[in-house]
Amino acid sequence: MKKVAIFNIKGGVAKTTSTANLGACLSEKNKKVLLIDLDAQSNLTKLFKAYSMDDLTISDVLLNKDLDINTVIKKTDFENIDIIPSNLKLAFTEKKILLDVSRSQQNRLSKALEKLNEYDYCLIDCPPSLNMITINALCASDEVFVPIKIDKFALDGLEYLLDSIEEIKDEFNPNLNFRGCFVTMDTATTVNKIIKKELKQLLANKMFNTTINQNVKVIESTFEECPVVFSNKKARASVDYKNLCKEVF
Ligand SMILES: Nc1ncnc2c1ncn2[C@@H]1O[C@H](COP(=O)(O)OP(=O)(O)O)[C@@H](O)[C@H]1O
Ligand SMILES: [Mg+2]
Repeated sequence: MKKVAIFNIKGGVAKTTSTANLGACLSEKNKKVLLIDLDAQSNLTKLFKAYSMDDLTISDVLLNKDLDINTVIKKTDFENIDIIPSNLKLAFTEKKILLDVSRSQQNRLSKALEKLNEYDYCLIDCPPSLNMITINALCASDEVFVPIKIDKFALDGLEYLLDSIEEIKDEFNPNLNFRGCFVTMDTATTVNKIIKKELKQLLANKMFNTTINQNVKVIESTFEECPVVFSNKKARASVDYKNLCKEVF
């Protein structure tokens, strides 16, 4: 099982959208996909209609060492896609991890995933911060991808972000491979062209060629609670995600 984190310290850059749609593309290639929602906002969970305050969630995986991870996995409407959901309780989970010094804190997800072998890919949707939850994601992952939304502040903090990935690699997870960045919500404006050029200079081969275009069908798909790749196959963003999937996997 290849474990992939979709990570950026910023919110609203399409981490969740990219996790859902790359998962959708892989499932269409007959890959068995496990999605993990590590964000207390639970947008990924809601997109796959798996939100509940009563079910076991990723919080239980992080807090309870004796839990069988299989009891937390939920089926979705899509044959090859299962999900480990989150709910609001995840907002309080980091504090509980930090207070529990009886076991190590950063490799709990990694250990829990060791018990799974029926999936080809595990895609992990990270929260918009670098906290113990995200460190768990990066410690559990083989690869990390960073979606970037172009705006005035797009490049701010990028080097810090890349340095922190390297630090986690050095400190905890030598297997971690920073695969690269891709642009989301792209538009054919001069500003975007300029920033993409700067990104290419900064990141060289760590910048993917495929960009995901801004497309209202993505927003519509969230109201349908279905990844756009499934709800509207011909939408520009769906085609882009298919191309990105081809480029990166
Ligand atoms: N290609 C796109 N075109 C238009 N809107 C998009 C696109 N990708 C994401 N969005 C919208 O942008 C917002 C933020 O995306 P989201 O995936 O939730 O970001 P994050 O998980 O990084 O916070 C959501 O409302 C989402 O529907
Ligand atoms: Mg999100």
